[in-house]
Amino acid sequence: MKFKESIDKRRTFGIISHPDAGKTTLTEKLLLFGGAIQTAGAVKNNKIKKTATSDFMEIEKQRGISVATSVMAFEYKGKQVNILDTPGHKDFAEDTYRTLTAVDSVILVIDCANGVEQQTEKLMEVCRMRNTPVIVFINKMDREGQDPFTLLDEIESKLDIKVCPLAWPIGMGDRFKGVYNIYEKNVNLFQASKTKIAKEVVSISDVNSSEIDELVGDAFAKELREDLEMIAGVYNPFDRETYLSGEYAPVFFGSAVNNFGVQELLDAFIEISPTPRSRETDLKTIDPYDEKFSGFVFKIHANLDPKHRDRIAFLRIVSGKFERNTFYNHVRLGKKFKFPNPTSFMAQDKSVIDEAFPGDVIGLYDTGNFKIGDTLNEGEKFMFKGIPSFSPELFQELENLDPLKSKQLEKGISQLTDEGVAQLFIQQPGNRKIIGTVGQLQFEVIAHRLLHEYGASCRFTPRNYVKACWITTDNDVELKRFISTKSGNIAKDKDDNYVFLAETPFLLQMAEKDYPDLTFHTTSEFKLTENN
Ligand code: G4P
Repeated sequence: MKFKESIDKRRTFGIISHPDAGKTTLTEKLLLFGGAIQTAGAVKNNKIKKTATSDFMEIEKQRGISVATSVMAFEYKGKQVNILDTPGHKDFAEDTYRTLTAVDSVILVIDCANGVEQQTEKLMEVCRMRNTPVIVFINKMDREGQDPFTLLDEIESKLDIKVCPLAWPIGMGDRFKGVYNIYEKNVNLFQASKTKIAKEVVSISDVNSSEIDELVGDAFAKELREDLEMIAGVYNPFDRETYLSGEYAPVFFGSAVNNFGVQELLDAFIEISPTPRSRETDLKTIDPYDEKFSGFVFKIHANLDPKHRDRIAFLRIVSGKFERNTFYNHVRLGKKFKFPNPTSFMAQDKSVIDEAFPGDVIGLYDTGNFKIGDTLNEGEKFMFKGIPSFSPELFQELENLDPLKSKQLEKGISQLTDEGVAQLFIQQPGNRKIIGTVGQLQFEVIAHRLLHEYGASCRFTPRNYVKACWITTDNDVELKRFISTKSGNIAKDKDDNYVFLAETPFLLQMAEKDYPDLTFHTTSEFKLTENN
């Protein structure tokens, strides 16, 4: 197959949702439709159960499974669909944010009863930062939920994105009759079935014909016509370019657990979703069709066996063809590396690959050379932008409990933060280590791994910061004044950037007001945009 065709057939995306909206179920159904798995339940194991906060073996086990199923790939109607798994557990949200840098589009799952939830808002913020195209799937229509128009209003107002319904539900809950496909002008009648693929699709030439009345009853048919009239009046017709620019999101309705509406979603997805997109670097924009290979590391996973320190770095290929056993530049280290055993992560079976194309994600065995955000390429050297750190939400001071093991602790925490398990801030002046995470579970994972993998025991003491803000300025005098006034709230991140640790939103506002020449950022992305 030609190089260009190999790129054009790839569709790399992530499924995101607030926990419990149905992400795992939808992923699984997509894999079933795509023929990648034969039975339900294969993906379900991948979830870290909400109750597992103190069961470390369980967490470790789950982490292992999540490596195997980190990228689920299948062929569907001539396209190669790559689904990048994102952890559902909110304590691993940072991992999800970073995975979103490696996708070309997302499917956002919303529970029709709960509407837009907290985690949905955060994830969408990350998508908007890079104008990632979004398709919305409103799930659980077999249950009583909110009125569809209310849901669309809520999506538009809370997620700050316009919507464009491509399907419309007829009734819901016990009265759920099916979905009218606005794009294809047909009705898909609902049958509750967890095992069978519901497939009673009836083409409708005209919504005013009596066919619809016969299929769903007069009252539902009347309501559908009124709704469609309203949709035509309120929402713009679908335009692929507008979707690809991230300005509006097509919306589908269905019930993942009942296999309903999933195939329509998949069919529309492969039709409209983007092919591998270009990415920005500090030098220029890299087009996927550039012949020279390039890619970036967006995730690092520790080996499950604590006796072996090696890790797996996840590399998203941006341009050119990756080939096994070929030397590439590790730009940050200024060294060349080759990889004898690069792997793909096709659902359950992890296999060594000889080549990979833009849009693909491969696993590289790593003995500690990679950090999240690293670029690997050939030819001219450049670094990819846009693998940011986000402000953590919880902060605790890390204390060493065994002075004889301080080297191990240093090494351990440095490697764990390279993996992106948490962020490390060194308080200035001084050397106190403040660890920032998005969830309590991460502190438990760190303490456990420091002890079991590095032999270092530690204690965490909560610190009452609420935000870490990266500081930029052209006014060095003001920065110095700020740093000396706010000692105790100043730290440096791993790359030596100054960070302000704010105790309350009010104190942050005050700092912004009192030091107008300083800019406070809640993500580290500024570094990448302002360096050039
Ligand atoms: P998540 O990955 O987003 O956290 O959600 P997940 O797919 O695990 O789904 C959460 C719960 O919602 C599951 O129930 C799942 O069966 C259910 N669910 C998913 N899709 C639908 C749907 O279309 N309709 C209805 N009624 N329920 C749906 P659970 O009780 O937590 O787990 P299980 O015992 O059913 O597996």
